[in-house]
Amino acid sequence: NERIPHDKTLDNSVNLLEEGYLFIKNRTERYQSDLFIARVLGKKVICMSGKEAAKMFYDTEKFQRNGAVPKRIQKSLFGENAIQTLDGPEHIDRKRLFMSLMAASNKQKSVAELVTDEWTKAAKKWAKEEEIVLFDEAKDVLCRAACKWAGVPLEESEVSERANDFSDMVDAFGAVGPRHRKGRRARKRAEAWITEVIEDVRSGKRQAKEGSPLYEMAQYKDEDGNELSAQMAAIELINVVRPIVAIAIYITFEAVALAQHRPCREELQSGDPKYLEMFVQEVRRYYPFTPLLGAQVKTGFIWNDVKFKQGMLVFLDVYGTNHDPNLWDNPEQFRPHRFDTRKESLYDFIPQGGGDPKKGHRCPGEGITIEVMKASADFLANKITYDIPEQDMSYSLAKMPTLPKSGFIMQNPQPLD
Ligand code: HEM
Repeated sequence: NERIPHDKTLDNSVNLLEEGYLFIKNRTERYQSDLFIARVLGKKVICMSGKEAAKMFYDTEKFQRNGAVPKRIQKSLFGENAIQTLDGPEHIDRKRLFMSLMAASNKQKSVAELVTDEWTKAAKKWAKEEEIVLFDEAKDVLCRAACKWAGVPLEESEVSERANDFSDMVDAFGAVGPRHRKGRRARKRAEAWITEVIEDVRSGKRQAKEGSPLYEMAQYKDEDGNELSAQMAAIELINVVRPIVAIAIYITFEAVALAQHRPCREELQSGDPKYLEMFVQEVRRYYPFTPLLGAQVKTGFIWNDVKFKQGMLVFLDVYGTNHDPNLWDNPEQFRPHRFDTRKESLYDFIPQGGGDPKKGHRCPGEGITIEVMKASADFLANKITYDIPEQDMSYSLAKMPTLPKSGFIMQNPQPLD
């Protein structure tokens, strides 16, 4: 592998934390190469970016996830030994369960419909407030909707605490020190709570509606006919509730985009559903959320003259691929109309991973995310009025995950109907 650029830094862990979303992109630009080798966390890692790299990364013959997800991320963000760490038939089988939960059933309101109901209720309450912080409100709105959709009981008095716990697990992924420890404590509390709910369903103490995520997780049996431990079922149920709450980050970015691009607001007000979708896609492309993904080489192979040795760690640059000038014209411009003529591809627009979600690890919740973001953008543009005071809407690309610093402050929010 002599011809591939090597980052000579002895260990890049500090650089990764300091450069955040730009760690890989800074180096692919410096070396003029979509692929380079660096040492991170004491290991040699192949870092790569772009469509061809993404296509290879999602080849399950070449890569596995077991061994690629650090324990510190499992203990905060994902839960230990959850779907994110599974491979092969076991992963496909568990993934089928997740995919089945995402299909809208006509008996049940969709997550987006529940979110719209909650926005309407919240806006009525805000009419009495001088000022609100959108990110905080969005977490509560999404937590109520997510628990209702999942069948998880939630008292109104516990909404904010539970919402903060889900959010803190996500906030921990790129952190060391107090923010990371906060995420671990949040996970402990949430797992204890949801494990008890699963146990109550199994013992018959609590009724769960067939088809609801709570019911399906509680009764799921793996290929060998074994049910999950109550804790594992809880971890996987949290794996659908937590990310719905995390959409609060994207919703806050939507508000920033609307504040900073007046023509976008006007086009959203025209009510064109195609534009609404393009706006949401551009928010998911342009604003940072997932920085990178990791996998481990399953059996050694050679690709474009590069030796991928068994056991080596590989990073795919998610943020950099969504900002790759070879794939996007003027990637640093926020421009929803770029999606007008865009051909769909499974590998070049990867805010929630690439490939086929049924076969690999791509996020099963993309449809839900897009629908919830559409409902929320429509709410912000068409269902309320508000003033925007002076505030710091900037976000740091060094912080993972990041967020507009003010959380987006809205003054005098008033529902329009
Ligand atoms: C996986 C991002 C929302 C459930 C993933 C992956 C990413 C991602 C990057 C990993 C892909 C990979 O490893 O190859 C996001 C973002 C979201 C979001 C940015 C918006 C806030 C959701 C929602 C749900 C969900 C709403 C469920 C309702 C999952 C699950 C996995 C996953 C269960 C693991 C899949 C697997 O390992 O096979 N997500 N996601 N996510 N996501 Fe999402």
